[in-house]
Amino acid sequence: MTTPRRGISKAVIPAAGLGTRFLPATKATPKEMLPVVDRPAIQYVVEEVVDAGIHDVLMITGRNKRPLEDHFDRNWELEEALRHKGDLGRLAQVQRATSPAAIHYVRQGDPRGLGHAVLCAAPHVGNEPFAVLLGDDLIDPRDPLLSRMVDVQAEHGGSVVALMEVDESQIGLYGCAAVHGTGQADVLRVDRLVEKPAPGEAPSNYAVIGRYVLDPAVFDVLARTEPGRGGEVQLTDALQQLAADPSIGGPVHGVVFRGRRYDTGDRLEYLRAVVQLACEREDLGDPFRRWLQEYVTASMPFYADDAVPV
Ligand code: G1P
Repeated sequence: MTTPRRGISKAVIPAAGLGTRFLPATKATPKEMLPVVDRPAIQYVVEEVVDAGIHDVLMITGRNKRPLEDHFDRNWELEEALRHKGDLGRLAQVQRATSPAAIHYVRQGDPRGLGHAVLCAAPHVGNEPFAVLLGDDLIDPRDPLLSRMVDVQAEHGGSVVALMEVDESQIGLYGCAAVHGTGQADVLRVDRLVEKPAPGEAPSNYAVIGRYVLDPAVFDVLARTEPGRGGEVQLTDALQQLAADPSIGGPVHGVVFRGRRYDTGDRLEYLRAVVQLACEREDLGDPFRRWLQEYVTASMPFYADDAVPV
């Protein structure tokens, strides 16, 4: 078991998924590169890592993921052309995408699930606690989550998951945690985890969202974890083993997140994320909100007999 320590130096971002829910857009473009307003989704995630003080990122990629490497690399010709035109605003945006973190890449090879993707990080991570961020979940930078999880891991040791209360009807879409209180308002002890429970079998309405700080003991557990739901090696199943036996890699705690989270995992959620983030933007928010209000008002008669549109 790892003794509690402050600071996490490495983050792992699984990015090997096929993005089938966005075909044909993702036929030749990684889903992580789909723009959310004017930045690819993956850039929000890398910026979140850096905001939490972590400067070493390992992306677990697969075939067709080379645009990710290009995006975070320098583009000298483009920078030179923008400088030449005096377009310093865009130049700053392009340079911002050249990450302040060192980004490493490893290919997953066989798509055998999230747990297997995380296991591919073992040689890079070594024997220290590390963060995992799933690219489908975007966390608003005004509601920092990862840095709180790093602090909780330093305090309690072991592993930390991010939990969010969701409607009962939604819990089957997530890993779900049975929990009890710790005396800290936003920290719960995780007793048990179930990946995507069937209706009526969820032990709570606490959903695991895509941020983790993990004890390296998870690697040995993952190496022994049989494929679970969907025939894939599930990270949740490995965490369940850690939660059930704290002598393996310390306890599992959950940080309850009540901030703004945007899901880009399916088309409807992605559209919501783009609209919400565009509304919040300083440079675009005012005119976009005004147009949106007019558009919705003008469209209302079409919906009059239906449920209120979301
Ligand atoms: C994954 C995890 C699940 C977690 C979810 C968070 O599922 O397996 O436990 O709740 O991410 O977004 P996925 O959404 O990739 O199917």
